[in-house]
Amino acid sequence: MMQQKYGQITGWGAYAPSNVVTNDDLSKILDTSDEWIVQRTGIKARRWAEEGEDGISMALAASREALEVAQLDPNDLDLIIVGTSLVESLAPAVASYVQHQLGAKDVPAFDVSTGCTGFLYSLSTAYQFIATGAYENILVVGVEHISQFVDLDDRATAVLFGDGAGAVVVQATDEPCGLKGFQLGSDGSQTEKLKLGLTELIKGESSKATIYMDGRAVFRFASRVLGSACAQVLQQAGKTLDDVDWIVPHQANMRILQSAARDMGVPLEKFYINIDQYANTSAASIPLALAEGLNNGQIKPDDTILMVSFGAGLTWAATLVELSPKMVCAESMFELGELVAEPVM
Ligand code: COA
Repeated sequence: MMQQKYGQITGWGAYAPSNVVTNDDLSKILDTSDEWIVQRTGIKARRWAEEGEDGISMALAASREALEVAQLDPNDLDLIIVGTSLVESLAPAVASYVQHQLGAKDVPAFDVSTGCTGFLYSLSTAYQFIATGAYENILVVGVEHISQFVDLDDRATAVLFGDGAGAVVVQATDEPCGLKGFQLGSDGSQTEKLKLGLTELIKGESSKATIYMDGRAVFRFASRVLGSACAQVLQQAGKTLDDVDWIVPHQANMRILQSAARDMGVPLEKFYINIDQYANTSAASIPLALAEGLNNGQIKPDDTILMVSFGAGLTWAATLVELSPKMVCAESMFELGELVAEPVM
């Protein structure tokens, strides 16, 4: 009989390409404006990968940093889970490329493809393997290279997305920290509302996978589900919003966050927000925000954080996680701000 364990986030890392694409840059190639984008979304800039950079290289940069903070050798990993919509290949999984290039020999690896909720679905899965005692050291990555799918003829979606990666290391401990509750959901009746479609590509009708989005429907769904998923996870954990230091949300749209904050009765300042700089990086957005917040000292190593996301499916996910003071040990090895690759800071 395996012994029940708890999961501790002992390492974190993030990476975003150095190529900054501002709203003004986009307004030179699209019929749009900085004013429209900022008013409707809160986005001022995004990072788009350049020649020589791809999803695998971004995932590797974030993963290496997370492993370094955790002081863990890749060969000591028991599992790698990657939340992503990257289409490097339909098979093998992106996680296998990451596993090999990290030098994590024979470590099991798989992807979770739930769109923007991919990181929280992956993190919740990792905690289950830890809780049962099956695995002790798990790398969880969220990575997207969405700029490769951006259709510059569709201004409503082209301005929204950015590239990036974030990763955490979750390790088993006897200390009762870590996951206090999680909620995952999917409303498959809304698969057509937000889709990274391959059908046109396979039929030869398009030269690349394409993003389709019913912006208004997704907006309504997200504004509603963000608050309800938070309420459910808090109830499950027997906690209230007063027990939460930070809400780290999926960074899709500032107005969605404002609407959710209003409905939840919490000040917007309780949300960790960096959408203005990175736009919507899909599965990468939460680990990227978490790593940035930990590195700049706004998120403290013993904080309780409520992470919440929504996306294609339409899916939603929320996790309540008590970080642990042990992270201070790892963190004190570095100067704050050194941990994230140069471009992100
Ligand atoms: N620049 C300028 N004008 C634009 C534009 C752009 N980038 N994109 C759309 N418009 C125009 C439309 O063509 C439309 O013009 P019209 O009135 O002349 O027809 C007008 O702006 C309003 O379009 P609409 O789609 O109704 O705007 P909106 O207020 O719903 O905002 C989104 C559009 C996409 C910003 C908004 O729906 C949204 O954020 N939805 C959620 C998307 C999301 O978060 N997706 C990811 C989830 S993981």
